[in-house]
Amino acid sequence: MCGIYAYLGHRNGVKIALDGLHRLEYRGYDSAGLAAIPNGEIVAFREVGKIAELEKAVGDFSANLVIAHTRWATHGKVTRENSHPQFDEKKNCAVILNGIIENYQTLREALRKEGVKFASDTDTEVIPNLVARAYEGDFLRACQQALLLLKGSFAVAIIHKNHPRELVVAANGSPLVIGIGAGETFVSSDPNALIHHTREVIYLADGEIGYIKPEGVELFDATMSQISKKTEKLLHEAEEMSKGQFEHYTLKEIFEQPRTISNAMMSRFFEEWGTVAFDDINLAISDYIAIKRILIVACGTSLHAGYVASYMLEDLARIPTQVEISSEFRYKNPIVPEGTFVIAISQSGETADTLAALRELKAKGAYVLAICNVPGSTIAREASGCLFLRAGAEIGVCSTKAFTSQLVVLTLFTLLLARMRHMSKPEGRKFLQMMEKLPGQAQLVLDQASHIEKIAKKYAQYNDFFFVGRRYMFPTSLEGALKLKEIAYVNANGYAAGEMKHGPIALINENCPTVALACDKVMFEKTLSNLMEIKARHGKVIVVATKKDGLDEIADDYILIPETYDELTPILASIACQLFAYYMARERGAEIDKPRNLAKAVTVE
Ligand code: F6R
Repeated sequence: MCGIYAYLGHRNGVKIALDGLHRLEYRGYDSAGLAAIPNGEIVAFREVGKIAELEKAVGDFSANLVIAHTRWATHGKVTRENSHPQFDEKKNCAVILNGIIENYQTLREALRKEGVKFASDTDTEVIPNLVARAYEGDFLRACQQALLLLKGSFAVAIIHKNHPRELVVAANGSPLVIGIGAGETFVSSDPNALIHHTREVIYLADGEIGYIKPEGVELFDATMSQISKKTEKLLHEAEEMSKGQFEHYTLKEIFEQPRTISNAMMSRFFEEWGTVAFDDINLAISDYIAIKRILIVACGTSLHAGYVASYMLEDLARIPTQVEISSEFRYKNPIVPEGTFVIAISQSGETADTLAALRELKAKGAYVLAICNVPGSTIAREASGCLFLRAGAEIGVCSTKAFTSQLVVLTLFTLLLARMRHMSKPEGRKFLQMMEKLPGQAQLVLDQASHIEKIAKKYAQYNDFFFVGRRYMFPTSLEGALKLKEIAYVNANGYAAGEMKHGPIALINENCPTVALACDKVMFEKTLSNLMEIKARHGKVIVVATKKDGLDEIADDYILIPETYDELTPILASIACQLFAYYMARERGAEIDKPRNLAKAVTVE
């Protein structure tokens, strides 16, 4: 969701910034632009569509100071006028923004009364106008005054035509990282986009401003006092950003799962004691023992991982667990009694709603454990502790390998708590042995790709689906349906199989197939009865199960997955659902890696 990249140095910043924008592409965007000050005037290029369009427009233009942006529309349609950079009326100042200015209407109205005419529908356009109005020769001061008037969650980069070697950047609730090179400075909304140039970075905290000049970077806090901050080192490796032999990143990432599942487990097993050890967090045994209640906050796919975890945490560790949608939770006044332990799940570590929930819970005194994939992300940094997924960059907008890694990490965490409570050592050991089989079992599901592709071809013309399951297969059905919705643009409802008869079964007919996740052993018989009800209404049923027994009368098609513990089945069943959604999407000609209207990191509310 919107990406910022800026450069000040001695090289051709246009090339560097365009390369930076490509590294931010995975976040999702609908237009792109850049601005520079080659001869005392601001020159800008803005194009709707892919970065390639911008590259064409830019040609061999070069400059040493560049601000560049990918926009994901929030305020105003996808047009060239609404893309960034935005300017003041006289084009003295140019601004790129990630996030939302909440009070832009008030500011716009006030500026309009002063005679300012706006050229776009964006919230961003108020900023260059505020800077231009405050400018009396001191660029930094003008920016500081303008920034003080803004409310919202944003990251911003500003240039002024009278200061062709200066760049002002600021962050408030949205990530912005400054990369320090040798005589050059880089700015980005994602540290991964900097790592090819430098590992020395400064993360801007809320309210902080960076004043970047050829001599170096000066930092200021929200009260305008100059501050000093140590640089931090980016420790992770630059990610491999190629599709390899695969047609799409999404497919590549689905196929990476045997390795990513194994990475999520690696060196976390404590086999002798049938338990788990996490090096990444520094909690004492007494801290784990003191947990009386768990609260999970997350959005989307991460939320579904949270639902799966809630079944496990209650069932195996016997700890009451509540799962909350971050965007709803952040506006509650949550009750956080002593003994509440919070888990914030976020692949990107940048989801604004989950970040807000985390901050509220920390303010109420809770320990917040983040489960994240992106080192250096805001949630990973602000949480009390963080368990990393180690899944590698997930470029496809739709989350696949990160989801199964979330499930692995959450299972390990459950096991740790269970062993401290009710689970015996032999039970713990058996559980770990079962987990060890997961990478190989994931491969067995992937080996059925061409079978799943055939099924997808058969059903590609259907526009409405149900995904149903019980117990562990209920949240798995929510996730299966989400995949189909987001990449194949097919209406799909995830439902608890036992709830179908309370209303949704009215929708079942020969045109509305059901993907039945009949893998939960405890609920197998009950699930069968629910599926019979669907069959009796002429619904077609694609069964995902561990065996065919008992399914003859029900299944129109089968996808068989290896047998494991019920707690682990969501991992294997989800891979089958991911492949189904992928092939459905391909068959329908959908744009798989960057589905319409979606963004990889949802940094706005
Ligand atoms: C779906 C998907 C989204 C994200 C959601 C939360 O495939 O990717 O539903 O799961 O936007 O994102 P994170 O996990 O980054 O907080």
